[in-house]
Amino acid sequence: SHSIRRFSTSPSSSIQKITIYGAGLMGAGITQVAAQNGLDVTMVDVSPDAIKKGKNIIDASLKRVASRLHKDDEKKRTEFIENVWKNISSSTDSSAAAVDADLLVEAIVENMKVKQELFSQLDKVAKKSAIFASNTSSLIISEIAKATNREENFAGLHFFNPVPQMKLVEVIRTDKTSNETCEKLMDVTKRMQKTPVTCKDTPGFIVNRLLVPYILEAFRLVGRGEATHADVDTAMKLGAGMPMGPFELADLVGLDTLKFIADGWRQSGKIDAHLVAPVKELDDLVANGDIGRKSGKGVYSYP
Ligand code: NAI
Repeated sequence: SHSIRRFSTSPSSSIQKITIYGAGLMGAGITQVAAQNGLDVTMVDVSPDAIKKGKNIIDASLKRVASRLHKDDEKKRTEFIENVWKNISSSTDSSAAAVDADLLVEAIVENMKVKQELFSQLDKVAKKSAIFASNTSSLIISEIAKATNREENFAGLHFFNPVPQMKLVEVIRTDKTSNETCEKLMDVTKRMQKTPVTCKDTPGFIVNRLLVPYILEAFRLVGRGEATHADVDTAMKLGAGMPMGPFELADLVGLDTLKFIADGWRQSGKIDAHLVAPVKELDDLVANGDIGRKSGKGVYSYP
């Protein structure tokens, strides 16, 4: 056996082979965590270059995990990293990679049409019993699922960035998602050492549904001149027990992402419009290219 860990207690029908579509930030993270926990993973992207980028993300993260686990033992560090890589294959052939997978997780670009096209193609080649899942943050799961003939085997599986560190996974059920699909996804999530929660297919699911309006409200408070950004962040950390203030979090998530989600929900009409009403400071920052940590400047500067 090449796995690091085996799950003899799991039912034989449980998920063993996973294919992840998208070798970006999220896809690489999900691949790594699955492989680290003994699942057999294939990571798919559109080009060898994109696969290489995903592998570099995994490599850097695994080195950090290994030095934490085996601080003073180089041999064990190397062995740990090699064993994880034994569970990972990669492919640029999306159909071939679908054929024997028990679970197919999509973490490609946040675009409804592109996601529907991928799933429609995979639906024709994947096993009938295979479960399809999307890691989308802001799109409606049932709308993506409509592109397939397996809506009972379709759900959202929403990981958080950075995947190796963040413990939560939201399992999103549409009206069509079966109990069995939901249970298998909860099971595989736990085997990946994450904590699953379930929720319905509504904008933002649980975490972002609360977080996005909260961050926008923080911008509005500062926009009215009631307090400074820094004082709002300090207040929420020390007075509400938040590990980061709303503006620190906004800069980390990316102001472009935040605006993209808020605008999308407003246009969808599925959420009270005032909760995601446009915020001038956010719109101005994004228009300026000041989108947060990744650009060196957002609400704060990151020299
Ligand atoms: P990313 O831009 O880092 O990676 C996307 C990858 O998908 C790229 O490597 C791209 O080449 C690839 N791709 C595009 N079309 C493809 C196709 N047809 N087949 C295979 N690969 C394809 O994006 P990121 O940040 O990893 O996000 C991916 C998904 O995860 C999005 O749906 C996003 O909403 C969701 N998500 C993102 C979070 C974040 O914090 N970045 C958090 C939770 C979910």
